[in-house]
Amino acid sequence: MTHPLEQLRDDALREIGSATDEHALEAARIKYIGKSGSISAWGERMKTLDKTERPVIGKLLNEVRNAVTAALETRSAQFRIEKESGALARIDISLPGTPGEIGSLHPLYQMHERAIQIFRRMGFALAEGPDVETEWYCFDALNTPPDHPARNEQDTFYLPDGRLLRTHTSTVQIRAMESASPPIRMIASGAAYRRDEVDATHSAQFHQIEGLYVDENVGIADLKGELEFFLRELFGSETEVQFRPHYFPFTEPSLEVYVRSKALKGGEQWIEVAGCGMVHPAVFEAVNKSRGDNAYDPEKWSGYAFGLGMDRLAMILFDIPDIRLFAQNDLRFLRQFA
Ligand code: PHE
Repeated sequence: MTHPLEQLRDDALREIGSATDEHALEAARIKYIGKSGSISAWGERMKTLDKTERPVIGKLLNEVRNAVTAALETRSAQFRIEKESGALARIDISLPGTPGEIGSLHPLYQMHERAIQIFRRMGFALAEGPDVETEWYCFDALNTPPDHPARNEQDTFYLPDGRLLRTHTSTVQIRAMESASPPIRMIASGAAYRRDEVDATHSAQFHQIEGLYVDENVGIADLKGELEFFLRELFGSETEVQFRPHYFPFTEPSLEVYVRSKALKGGEQWIEVAGCGMVHPAVFEAVNKSRGDNAYDPEKWSGYAFGLGMDRLAMILFDIPDIRLFAQNDLRFLRQFA
């Protein structure tokens, strides 16, 4: 004779087998093994059973419950598979895919990376400073007098609170010396801002690579030799480099750097690429003042500094005719450097 529990199991399995969707399956689950399902009800009924009967029926109840649970899971998995293969059937796997767009580095950033790589090999560490600066870092500490034209509102972008957009990356020289004692050998690359008339070679935002080397007995021969080495690494060994006297308030003597190479655009033409010079003692004194010590004693230490025009270098290297192209975000231009 079949036990009523076995009867319930057979009913449940039949219903599960003939369920046509998840909905019907869930209804069957509730009906039989849900909280007040007919199989679950046997759990309560156990208490009223005879002691000798209890283990036998308990075992049967477990078997029945397990069988029903397993059947529910199997049927549910079948539904899932049917659903997925139905969805797949609607996909034409022979259709070509949609390729993702792969970006590339901006030519200015590529220029930055090349320069950093060369200077790293020469022992320079990378430093940083903010674009929004105070007059101290941009002018005062760099021995630039209050009546200097660069401090004019016609030339420099001032914020209402008196801060400004740095007009050169020489600000990072001061920041580096304030936070580290000599010897120091650093480069910094980033944006600088001037109220220039915008044309093919001038932009209100441009980029520089600043360099600073302070040690005992640093001389102008170190400056010339190292800049020459850098420019030949960048543009090729046949590159000619020329230094012409110039004036900057924060270096003495000061020089401008020109390059010329048959391999470069223009060929016969000298192109200005940097300003440089020996760090002015007044700059060391200003740094000492803000540090509150005499770490940069001009009697003991000397140094050179340079500021390379990064846009200019990139324009020569990649043969780019107009500085404005760097900021226009025209993909037809940018893709050429991918
Ligand atoms: N800061 C100068 C400029 O922007 C370049 C420079 C840097 C000159 C360091 C001398 C030393 O023109």
